[in-house]
Order: sequence, then structure tokens, then C-alpha cells
Amino acid sequence: MNKSTRKAIIAGNWKMNKTRPEAKELLEAIKPLVANAEGNIEVIACVPFTNLETAISTTAGSNVKIGAENVHFEKSGAYTGEISADMLVELGVEYVVIGHSERRQYFGETDETVNKRLLSAIGSGLKAILCVGETLEQREQGITEEVIAMQTKIALQGTCPKCIKNVVIAYEPVWAIGTGKVATPEQAQEVCAFIRKTIAGLFNQEVADGITIQYGGSMNAKNCAELLAKSDIDGGLIGGASLKAEDFNTIVQAAVNG
Ligand code: PGA
Repeated sequence: MNKSTRKAIIAGNWKMNKTRPEAKELLEAIKPLVANAEGNIEVIACVPFTNLETAISTTAGSNVKIGAENVHFEKSGAYTGEISADMLVELGVEYVVIGHSERRQYFGETDETVNKRLLSAIGSGLKAILCVGETLEQREQGITEEVIAMQTKIALQGTCPKCIKNVVIAYEPVWAIGTGKVATPEQAQEVCAFIRKTIAGLFNQEVADGITIQYGGSMNAKNCAELLAKSDIDGGLIGGASLKAEDFNTIVQAAVNG
């Protein structure tokens, strides 16, 4: 399968930014700019829980889809402060980011809890954006592939070739997130191709050829075209640059033109 037959997905990850009026303003600015991204291209904004309802109503009838930034793995119960997959589905949320490195780093998430969240999300009908990525120390130790293989394999335990259609993988080297230190297109391509190979080993070549793999980590309006031109990079998960409508649109247009 050729890259052009895979879905290209440009997703913003707003992190802990924007009040509801600010979220509405940003989405109103993004909507007309990205209206031409259709067919095999998806545009998503992953927003804080408090902005989900506003984001869904603001983007209704447009091609911008809405995602959450995390989900708990239990269906309901005594989990103060948590949000379940069913709650997100009921709101009309379509995507959810799972296993972002900031969740792993600051909130004690492990490959095992990432796996539980992923199974719960896709079991409830959400689409998951699964984040994997090595730290600078791991890269320098030469164990990037081992780390990526382990994170990918554990996160996808218990999934099947059919339900994996609802999973997107984002390769986000931890050292490139929010640092302005972007991976070179070659470095990003190398790991994205390795992730695809790992998926082929877990499932089969057809599944691997069909899965969308994004790059994330300081992707911006300037470097996006080069990254998105690579054969195994099917999109981007964008933090800082997704908070500016023009910059986010430049990245979407790079996917449209790519
Ligand atoms: P960044 O964040 O684009 O600000 O580096 C990417 C991410 O964390 O998803």
C-alpha cells in the first residue's frame, strides 16, 4: 500500500491551554482555513475536558473533529477526578490521545495503564491516538528501537487486526516535545518505519500498510512539509503550533499538498 492511500491526520494537542471563549475563538479561526482538507485527510483538535462541549458545538457541520487528551480505563465508579470513555462518547468526542509522554512523565502512566486506556477507548467506540517515544537518554544509549517496540507492543496487547483500524500511532520523541528541537526528517522517518515494521510483526503487512503514523515534537509551519513528505510519516500531532490558527493551517495545507 502506498502512502497516499493511508489517512493523513493532522491533530492539534492543546494540552492545558484555552478557556472556553478562547477555545471557541481559535476553532472559529481554524474552521474556514482548513475547510479544503477532505477525503483522505483528517483535521482534529484535542482539547482539555472543560472545552469539549464548546469545541464540539463550535465545529458542528465542519470538517474539524474533536478529541480528548486522556481517558480513564474503568467504565465508572470511585475514581475521583477521572473521565470514562463512555462519558466522552456521549459528548460526541471522536478521538482521544493516549499515553502522551507528559502523562507518562508527570502522572505516573505506565505501558500497562496505557494499554488499559487504549482497550477501554476503542472498546467504547473512540479512536485512539497512541503516543510512543524515547527519551534523549534512551536515544543516546542506542535503545530507541527497543523502547519503541516495547511501548507499542504493550500498548496494543489485546487488540485485534479489525479494532486496530481505530488506532493512530504518534511517534513523539520526548526530547523534541516543546523544546523546539525537532527530529530531523530522516530520524523521524526511521522510527516511523520501524513502528510500521513492528505493527507488521504484531498483525500483518496489510494492517501495517493501513495504519496512520504521525510524527510529533516541535512540528511547526516551517518544518512540517519536509517531515510530512517522508514515506512513513502520515501526519502530525502538534502542540505549540496548534494554538495559532495560521500555523496550524500551514501544517494542514502541507498535508493537503503532500
Ligand atoms: P509540541 O508538542 O508540538 O509543542 O512539541 C507536541 C505534543 O506534545 O504532542
